[in-house]
Amino acid sequence: MSRRIVIFDTTLRDGEQCPGASLTPPEKLEIAKQLARLGVDVIEGGFPLASPGDRQAVKMIAQTIKGPTIAALARSLAPDIDAAAAALAPAKKKRIHVFLATSPIHRKYKLHKAQAEILRQAVWAVTYAKKYSTDVEFSPEDASRTEPEFLYQVLEAVIKAGATTVNIPDTVGFAIPEEFGALINGITEHVVNIEDATISVHCHNDLGLSVPNSLAAISNGAGQVECTINGIGERAGNASLEEIVMSLKIRQDFYRATTGIDTRQIHKTSRLVSSLTGIVVQPNKAIVGENAFRHESGIHQDGMLKHRATYEIMRPQDIGLADSTLVLGKLSGRHAFAKRLGALGFRLSKAELDRAFERFKVLADKKKEVFDEDLAAIIEEDMPPEQETYKLVYVHTASGSDTVPTATIRLVKDGKELQDAACGDGPVDACYKTIDRLTGVSPELVDYSLHAVTKGKDALGEVSLKLRYRHIEVGGRGTSTDVIEASAKAYLNAVNKLISSTTRQAYLKRRQALHP
Ligand code: KIV
Ligand code: ZN
Repeated sequence: MSRRIVIFDTTLRDGEQCPGASLTPPEKLEIAKQLARLGVDVIEGGFPLASPGDRQAVKMIAQTIKGPTIAALARSLAPDIDAAAAALAPAKKKRIHVFLATSPIHRKYKLHKAQAEILRQAVWAVTYAKKYSTDVEFSPEDASRTEPEFLYQVLEAVIKAGATTVNIPDTVGFAIPEEFGALINGITEHVVNIEDATISVHCHNDLGLSVPNSLAAISNGAGQVECTINGIGERAGNASLEEIVMSLKIRQDFYRATTGIDTRQIHKTSRLVSSLTGIVVQPNKAIVGENAFRHESGIHQDGMLKHRATYEIMRPQDIGLADSTLVLGKLSGRHAFAKRLGALGFRLSKAELDRAFERFKVLADKKKEVFDEDLAAIIEEDMPPEQETYKLVYVHTASGSDTVPTATIRLVKDGKELQDAACGDGPVDACYKTIDRLTGVSPELVDYSLHAVTKGKDALGEVSLKLRYRHIEVGGRGTSTDVIEASAKAYLNAVNKLISSTTRQAYLKRRQALHP
């Protein structure tokens, strides 16, 4: 049977304590809305006594967000608890989160209080908070450096006073997984009334162990984890929500625990938090880093193309990404290269592929990442010479003041003659309409110019024009002593360019996709 783990998100409180991350109340509300869509159970909106902005933010979140419980932080002091209660008042489901340090270092240097005084104040704070909310969480700050016996005593007393959740913070990220797991196990064994409360953990990442510590705690009986999106938070941050949730999901066989998180919202939430806090996500960050679903080595790409499970333990779609990416770089192999070209619409022969791959390797040595545009350029370099698919063999036009301009044209394709006729707005237009009928291509004429290249009455005329076909522009040129014939030749020259080879077509197709 799977246990359901409560996800307590503290992105808006501890996460905002990340140096440089400061959020306005509307920004906090926007993130809270997304956290609700993500499916977190508790949103800690802020520390109301700390600033008017936090008071306002918690209030706005409490007024607006319906699904999750809204929590606010308070020291174990009346003004703090009053401020938290006031800000939380509109919430449908609210939690007051009170904390007090219990470790010898904090007692001696920060609070100047003995154990007995700490115990009294903790019980008083929980009792006081209970006046405002049935749901009260107590955190013995720096719990992981507190004498276990004293910690058990504090926990038992605050549960007796009404704490419904007892949170065990590894405030300075000092714990290691085996030890932290054992501490949680010790709590389940030594705190006699522990069944009356949920055990929560709140791990900081100073040694990079916040997620392993949180998972070890879950294995040893914790029912709630406190975490943040992208792992942001005080100093090195908090345990990352996405890493904990995906660990539980992917290793369900091991943890036998589930969450209420809609994992497909993870990527979106990560982006939102990153853009509003200005805290960039490192590219190799687990789950949400830019490279988390990108494969560069040729061996890995080949494996991925054969079966994605060779190198991926989760599907990118699970976190809301469209797909994985095979990054083309100097380590990429022929398999991924050919596959990408195929996806871009290029159909190459083996010899063409060999040549293109060689050029790709040279480029990849100079460039970190080879993009689709680079591939198009690589292929363009090797495009076969333009072929004259259609040859003009005969042009005849009839026009005059009383005649509808008409053209008759004969073309040869693959040794076969094709003939047709059409009317137009003039003899040149009639020619172009006839060529369109014969070739099945109807480009738009975007430019046309005629000039004489030799002198005299029988001067050679040259027509230059530009055709556009589905956003692709090509030029054409034709010369003749007859301007109509020069015009037809130029037009056919451009049409031939559009359809001259399958590779060129594929290139044009790709160009279309890249520059629609
Ligand atoms: O790290 C910590 O100890 C805290 C408490 C207030 C829970 O953030
Ligand atoms: Zn913290």
